[in-house]
Amino acid sequence: MPMTLPGLCWEPPIKPHNKKADARNISVQVLLAVLDEGESLSSAIPRLTQSLSPQDKAFAQMLIYGVLRWHVRLQALLAQLMKKSLKAKDHDVQLALLLGLYQLMDTRVPDYASVDATVSMIRKSRKKWAAGMVNGVLRNFIRQKDALLAAIEHDSEARYSHPQWIIHQLQQDWPEQWQQILDANNSQAPLVLRINRQKISPDDYLQKLELSASKLDMAEDALMLEQACDVTNLPGYQDGWFSVQDAGAQQAAYLLDLQAGQKILDCCAAPGGKTGHMLELQPTLQVTAMDISDQRLMRVQENLERLEFSAELVAGDAQSPDDWWDGELFDGILLDVPCSASGVIRRHPDIKSLRRADDIAQLVEVQQQILKNIWPLLKPGGKLLYVTCSVFKAENENQISWFLQQAPDAVELDIHADFGQKRIHGRQIFPGQDLMDGFYYSLLTKTG
Ligand SMILES: C[S@@+](CC[C@H](N)C(=O)[O-])C[C@H]1O[C@@H](n2cnc3c(N)ncnc32)[C@H](O)[C@@H]1O
Repeated sequence: MPMTLPGLCWEPPIKPHNKKADARNISVQVLLAVLDEGESLSSAIPRLTQSLSPQDKAFAQMLIYGVLRWHVRLQALLAQLMKKSLKAKDHDVQLALLLGLYQLMDTRVPDYASVDATVSMIRKSRKKWAAGMVNGVLRNFIRQKDALLAAIEHDSEARYSHPQWIIHQLQQDWPEQWQQILDANNSQAPLVLRINRQKISPDDYLQKLELSASKLDMAEDALMLEQACDVTNLPGYQDGWFSVQDAGAQQAAYLLDLQAGQKILDCCAAPGGKTGHMLELQPTLQVTAMDISDQRLMRVQENLERLEFSAELVAGDAQSPDDWWDGELFDGILLDVPCSASGVIRRHPDIKSLRRADDIAQLVEVQQQILKNIWPLLKPGGKLLYVTCSVFKAENENQISWFLQQAPDAVELDIHADFGQKRIHGRQIFPGQDLMDGFYYSLLTKTG
């Protein structure tokens, strides 16, 4: 039996043989958890899709990602098709409609099957009253599709399927690139592996893979798979031959110019993607991986165990290192601050619904506190890499301008790299640029 969320009147009495119906029902539940409860996709999907077969899980995931990616656009289409909007308590019915519309718009599911499956899902729920309406709306969409799409083409929110505040912020920050960024956010990100060079080279791993994959110019440890798959079934997963990590994120470890035996602080480290890469490049590093979340630190532990590395794990708040730091300075610091994640929307389309405009000012404040209070932990001559997966200037180059003004012993170093775009401070990668996620990097050193 699929789980039912408390307080929601979605009760899917699914016929056991109808697997696709199961996947659709569970998709609605995941969407309710994200949109009504504010749960992230990375938590809701594993929690709610456990009962599905791998094939159905992939189908549900395709639907969930699609609806969240195109949510604003689908809502604008639905608004044209319905005289009255549904009540808040019928959000499940509305989401079933969006699921139906998404299948009609963007999937290879035949039109009749999309309509039938959506209507039958409603019929089997407690909201049978909505079945006729759902049938009518979806059939009207098929009939009027071109006109309905034309009618929203000049509405930027619907055209780009983003909330207005994100569009506005990108227009302000990137008057030349905002459309390209929004389009990239709506695309599907590639599956990129980082090969653990302590175990196997990317060339040798390519030979072992039975799937099509290619190397990437911008990240020497990366392999991009042509098709998504369950990576736990790929050769060497259990033995730590590779990790899943976007090529944009893979730049961090190279930029720190790590030397054998250095003492490194990985600040805001969980789930440990960059921790693992640093150790792959220099296995003799003494790494302290710190994060505010105990639970997420367990993920660091698991990931490092699989790769066969170890690090000191510290739970604490990076804004107040006096509570957890032992007073020994670090040769290098990776500062992967909490951010809007506006550079990784293509992988996490829930960000468009979960983030609010006022989050940015709060994040900027926390980032400043962290930068200011972690800086004293760096040895003179040491390097600190400031990282975000954001494309907003307020979290990126403006932060470094602010910091350089108030830290007289901080000097910015040039990042010698081909990726992204050189900015007044640091380097910005836009989502999709050189196949990477949107990341920002600035490298600082401490004088005398
Ligand atoms: C961008 S993620 C880090 C990703 C990680 N570096 C990696 O490569 O896998 C940001 C992390 O910051 C942590 N975090 C948020 N606020 C924090 C704080 N005040 N102090 C320490 N960690 C914090 C979050 O728990 C989250 O794990």
